[in-house]
Amino acid sequence: MKRLVVVSNRVAEPGCSHAAGGLAVCILDALRKRGGVWFGWNGEIVPDDAEIDVSRVKFDELTLATMPLTERDYRDYYLGFANAALWPVHHYRLDLARFTQEAIDGYRRVNDRFAEKLAPMLMSNDLVWVHDYHFIPLGAALRERGVANRIGFFLHIPFPPPDVLCAMPEHEWLMSALVEYDLVGFQTKTDQANFLRFMCDFMQGEMLTPDLVRVGGKTVTASVFPVGIDVDSFSAMAESPSAAERIQRLHRAGEPRINVIGVDRLDYTKGLPDRLRSFKRLLEIYPQNCKAVTLMQIAPPTREDVQAYADIRHELEALSGEINGQFGDFDWTPVRYLHRRVDRDTLAALYRGSQVGLVTPLRDGMNLVAKEYVVAQDAENPGVLVLSRFAGAAEELQEALIVNPYDADEVANAMQKAIVMPLGERKERHAALLARVRKHDSYNWMDGFLRALSACRLPLAA
Ligand code: ADP
Ligand code: G6P
Repeated sequence: MKRLVVVSNRVAEPGCSHAAGGLAVCILDALRKRGGVWFGWNGEIVPDDAEIDVSRVKFDELTLATMPLTERDYRDYYLGFANAALWPVHHYRLDLARFTQEAIDGYRRVNDRFAEKLAPMLMSNDLVWVHDYHFIPLGAALRERGVANRIGFFLHIPFPPPDVLCAMPEHEWLMSALVEYDLVGFQTKTDQANFLRFMCDFMQGEMLTPDLVRVGGKTVTASVFPVGIDVDSFSAMAESPSAAERIQRLHRAGEPRINVIGVDRLDYTKGLPDRLRSFKRLLEIYPQNCKAVTLMQIAPPTREDVQAYADIRHELEALSGEINGQFGDFDWTPVRYLHRRVDRDTLAALYRGSQVGLVTPLRDGMNLVAKEYVVAQDAENPGVLVLSRFAGAAEELQEALIVNPYDADEVANAMQKAIVMPLGERKERHAALLARVRKHDSYNWMDGFLRALSACRLPLAA
């Protein structure tokens, strides 16, 4: 078996019990089984003049090779370009995107530096797999350094329609870098179609097969590989005796009789204010839920140095205070909002102890929380998933109650439907959803991608 070298900005250590973010969760799940090298940022920020070295730590078959970012890199590359330009553009939010020359330069600089450090570590038949928007030009930077290995790229976030993407300065440079990969993977058919449309309409690409496009003398395969989770280990967490104890404690606390759960990084793409407004509508349209239903929203901090993230936090705190002030009572808090990370086994227990899973992003690459909620349920008495049509997961998880997250009344009605849904229908929907989540688990995702990458022609022979 060829050695696998995975590259991503965020890297998580095995045993890390609270990796908030879908990328770290699914790569860790997949790499734990296969082994290989995981190269990326170690999460540290060092002064601009510090010496940058790669450090290695081994965990059985998995080696983590990581290095710090300088203060300038963190500001320009991570906050500036990756999270204040690429992230909003890819989530269809041009209104929140900020473009500066320093940020673009920083993004190029960091991609070049990671390529510089990685190239000498590679062996000739390693499979190289680059992840996510932080490292779009990394493949091209490796090619410039003579790396001829097969190199694949997977985008965890949505690929926007061409008309949105082309509002970003330097989009042509960025997109032409994608053609340097042998294989580019997406979460959904919509993302794949947007990419191919961009290549054909904006870069004079020519389709050779339904997923092979030639652009400027290079060919790249673009396919769909929906990410998943490690189903067996997550369901084992949810079924453990300690989970049962936690669930009992949750219910013994006196409230709620019915728990609705939301678990998301505090990101504006997750639609949290809209979700709270929908919950408010639930209490207004169906007042019988007062004192009977609680929304538990767990939203850990993320990217707080970007202004749009600070803004969304204030908005959410004001809204939850408003709802609790208006509807709450001495013995009932309608919204329980926790602004922190939680261990994965506690999360699994909370999902299992909640009758409704509320996953309503305004736009999301996949959304693993939706899959975790399904897997954590008791098959004999499962809860109901309410899922945004704008999450990548909605392409697969059709037996969820699919909603438009912008429509507060529609979401409130779906919550009510979930609360009163008969056991037979809940079991039927849950069984169908579980089968789908199993089909696309973390291992199949990785296996499918690596098989497709191995089947691509070697770039030098192309
Ligand atoms: P994203 O990648 O945009 O954060 P996903 O839903 O795909 O969204 O993945 C989020 C991952 O982070 C899930 O595995 C989820 O369990 C985890 N997570 C989210 N919130 C928390 C939290 N408060 N504590 C620990 N893990 C969290
Ligand atoms: C999403 C992105 C990942 C990122 C994660 C957490 O899942 O697709 O690339 O790692 O969010 O964000 P952070 O900025 O903390 O790495």
